[in-house]
Amino acid sequence: MKHLLKLMDWSAGEIIETLDLADKLKKEKKAGVPHHILAGKTLGMIFSKSSTRTRVSFEVGMYDLGGSALFLSSHDLQIGRGEPVQDTARVLSRFLDGIMIRTFEQAEVEALAEYGSIPIINGLTDYCHPCQVLADLMTVREHRGSLAGNKLCFVGDGNNMANSLIVGGIKTGMKVAIACPSTHKPDAALMKWAAENGDFTCTESVLDAAADADVLYTDVWASMGQEGEAEERKRAFAGYQVNDAVMAVAKPDAMVLHCLPAHRGEEITAEVFEAHAGDIFDEAENRLHAQKAVLVRCLGE
Ligand code: CP
Ligand code: NVA
Repeated sequence: MKHLLKLMDWSAGEIIETLDLADKLKKEKKAGVPHHILAGKTLGMIFSKSSTRTRVSFEVGMYDLGGSALFLSSHDLQIGRGEPVQDTARVLSRFLDGIMIRTFEQAEVEALAEYGSIPIINGLTDYCHPCQVLADLMTVREHRGSLAGNKLCFVGDGNNMANSLIVGGIKTGMKVAIACPSTHKPDAALMKWAAENGDFTCTESVLDAAADADVLYTDVWASMGQEGEAEERKRAFAGYQVNDAVMAVAKPDAMVLHCLPAHRGEEITAEVFEAHAGDIFDEAENRLHAQKAVLVRCLGE
């Protein structure tokens, strides 16, 4: 059974095949060609955190593929009142053809896969955001023609986005440079793997990381669940911003990506955001096409 629990579980070949399928589904959608590959299938979408892009891309994606999607807030499910994930997994496996879950602990996603008998897709945890990174890779390839050899620089918190970008970037042959404070580095095991398997650096210097970058990427300083640390994080991340000075050391035609939602004036200036809105909203749109490709791979096989 094919799950997407984290990008590390997928080979480079599977990632590229998924991007190829996403490109095909995007072309068909633009041309009005129907592709009801998942007719009659139902996806359950469990959310313990807010979402705009993930919810809408998966829900519209299932309709486009001829299936249906159920929005399941964890606050309304019995899981929110303490029903064990092991039982939830076994019950939902009797009703559904797949589950997409957004939650805090990666272990909860892994437990759904262990106890359930249907494909599980990770729609973001504190550890990683694989679906977003597939859309990001799709967008880089679409804009720059290739992935291998391009330098991806991530500026900011060594969070779920940084972790998945490291894996997705290194697996597809990109050079990955992270700029973050020493107190907020990405996952240590992932950084070790990246250094052993590709061109990877992690530095406190934003300008060193951004030098000659093809793609600049940033994300919020305080992720969902960290709202209480917002003030402390503003101090820790001051200077970790994608702004004109950072753009000046990147390649002249560098792209700027942001998973969104964005906090203008914090991790990115309003000027850089608006100058690269074309890249950023193509990236957001590609959530739909990339998530459909993930759905076909996981629920269609
Ligand atoms: N980028 C992303 O996952 O957006 P949402 O939080 O709106 O789903
Ligand atoms: N790091 C952010 C990503 C949102 C898509 C968060 O976890 O809130």
